Amino acid sequence: MNKLRTAGSSALLSLSLSVVNLEFERKKVAMSSCYFNPTPTSSYLIPADFSRKLKIPNLLHRKKRCDGSPKSSKITAFYGLKTPPFELDALEPYMSKRTIEMHWGEHHQNFIGSLNEQLKKDDILYGYTLNELVKVTYNNGNPLPEFKNAAEVWNHDFFWESMQPGGGNIPELGLLQQIEKDFGSYTNFREKFTEAALMLFGSGWVWLVLKREERRLEIVKTSNAICPIVWDDIPIINLDLWEHAYYLDYRNDKAKYVNEFMDHLVSWNAAAGRLAWAQAFVNLGEPNIPVK
Ligand SMILES: [Fe+2]
Repeated sequence: MNKLRTAGSSALLSLSLSVVNLEFERKKVAMSSCYFNPTPTSSYLIPADFSRKLKIPNLLHRKKRCDGSPKSSKITAFYGLKTPPFELDALEPYMSKRTIEMHWGEHHQNFIGSLNEQLKKDDILYGYTLNELVKVTYNNGNPLPEFKNAAEVWNHDFFWESMQPGGGNIPELGLLQQIEKDFGSYTNFREKFTEAALMLFGSGWVWLVLKREERRLEIVKTSNAICPIVWDDIPIINLDLWEHAYYLDYRNDKAKYVNEFMDHLVSWNAAAGRLAWAQAFVNLGEPNIPVK
């Protein structure tokens, strides 16, 4: 918690600065390669009021918030909708432009709008990165009202970056070796991933994650908005199994949706980049400690 408190304080300052540098951030995100983002970059912060000069929260007159870290006295920025890393028709025919316009432009946008409305009422949660906000509002399994919207923003940011035009097929090199090590073969992995997706009851997500302690890849299912970063897992790939993700294109044929995702949409490039990033924190091989 101390670590989080420290991170929250520094995040407050950095978020304030990112408001000032909004145009720079927009350009930077637009230019970045989505396929190598280890986690979804936090949704844009947009000024609460473009017509007024921005105010940096006064860090000298702060109160404590729920994790004990300082809080700002005034909200000066909100989260904004992040653009998918491809044209809206680029995933056709496997995911239609109509589906993405509705899914991203309405559902994802609504999660952000609702989150901003919640944060506007009480700035106690202002100043966190999106990752931190998801973890703090999960509140050790007793979610705060803001959790659902914050997690769904995170999940959807990650989902758009988990797909690419011309995706699918089989991962390569290190990622494939790790999958074969942890699941026996790529075929076994795919069967288990598909089975998990089809067995999920109700709305939710299926994920390929890296378990930090076990130092292995695993498939996990989560209900509704739950995001595995709350358990400190490192997500590698996710698949949205809320009905709004596939109903327009596949009606009730969830199996076809999952298979088309695996065959044509999943970005193994993104997954490989995320796994490479994760290996900075998790040693997947034998420890290589120099002998003195
Ligand atoms: Fe969704």
